Amino acid sequence: MMDIAVSILSSNYDLDETIKRVNDTKAEYFHIDVMDGKFVPNIVDPFKHLNNTFKPLNVHFMVDDPFKYITYYSSLKNVDMIIFQVEIDDNIDSLLDYIKSFNIRCGLAIKPDTDITEISPYLEKLDEVLVMSVEPGMGGQEFMENSLEKVETLKNIREKRNLKFLIGIDGGVNNTNFSKLKDVDIITVGSYICKSDNYNEKVDELISLKNK
Ligand code: DX5
Ligand code: ZN
Repeated sequence: MMDIAVSILSSNYDLDETIKRVNDTKAEYFHIDVMDGKFVPNIVDPFKHLNNTFKPLNVHFMVDDPFKYITYYSSLKNVDMIIFQVEIDDNIDSLLDYIKSFNIRCGLAIKPDTDITEISPYLEKLDEVLVMSVEPGMGGQEFMENSLEKVETLKNIREKRNLKFLIGIDGGVNNTNFSKLKDVDIITVGSYICKSDNYNEKVDELISLKNK
């Protein structure tokens, strides 16, 4: 399906202007990165600015302790999916149940060096697996090609076990690798769009690559 989720993490504009510009594009989702300074060194929490987002939000927690973040992010009216990292030292099942209790879709993200077997016990419960194609922590990094193998593995598991989760990818996507992502359901794109001065042009270009 190759839906586009725009990550507003690194941009040419301030957060409010960035959000306005993304609202005006044909992208399907906002991708909201949240960092706690522990799971990754940076601290990022754009919660206060999200009232002016007019697309469904996919929220991606790169935090050690998602519980408290789930509690306040779930109050936003347009939160569609909450994703956290499978690597954390916490009870994954109860956090997934907690997200579901708000009627919000849930996902797990997996870092480039984490094996897919770490995520397999949860696949039945998940609405999305987010394959990280860069190390979490910042925007503007280079796409890691080996993430494509993870996408294929997940696709095979999904078919074999007759599951429904969506496959997402996050990090380093641009116009040179977008067309390799035919099997990805939700494609996160950050700096390629937000570090430009014409968001519409970039989104339209990526959409036109879907059939190439
Ligand atoms: C990385 C974030 C990603 C990333 C996307 O920690 O989760 O969402 O910043 O931005 P680009 O497309 O610039 O890699
Ligand atoms: Zn992200």
